[in-house]
Amino acid sequence: MLAAMAAGCTDPKGELAIPAADATVFQTTVYPILLRDCGFTTCHGTSDRFFSVFGPGRTRLDPETAPYDPATPYELAISYTRARSMILGPAGPTSSLLLRKPIPLASGGAGHKGNDPWGRSVYASIDDARYVALYRWATASRTP
Ligand code: HEM
Repeated sequence: MLAAMAAGCTDPKGELAIPAADATVFQTTVYPILLRDCGFTTCHGTSDRFFSVFGPGRTRLDPETAPYDPATPYELAISYTRARSMILGPAGPTSSLLLRKPIPLASGGAGHKGNDPWGRSVYASIDDARYVALYRWATASRTP
């Protein structure tokens, strides 16, 4: 289903340059990272945020879904669409909020209310393996 969604979202005029953002890599690699590191209910596990992510062990879109049941197709689709919408940046994915919010200002970070109470960003460095996986997905396999 995600592949069909990815294929269906073309930009006829090419103005927005919607990034490729592989749907399978999202499902297998990126989604578990975003759920774990961003998906808390007080963070991105809510529809109140532009960037939101839903699934096992975090907020479930349908409250009837058991906490650790597998991700529903709808949770995957919403999480993919929202993450993909966050990799549009003025200078392409590398300038996007998805890549700039979770890293320190000194490493090109954008400033983030998701930093911990000691001001530390979600990823201490752009070499963090989880950040590298996010970066490779958002930029179609380039490394930071
Ligand atoms: C790798 C994990 C994370 C990523 C990729 C990420 C990414 C983003 C992005 C793209 C935005 C701007 C769009 C929006 O407002 O939704 C944002 C904003 C925000 N995030 Fe996160 N976030 C992460 C983790 C967290 C965590 C753990 C928290 C809570 C402790 C958090 C709290 C917030 C808040 C309050 C905002 C709105 C204020 C702001 O723009 O800084 N985020 N984040």
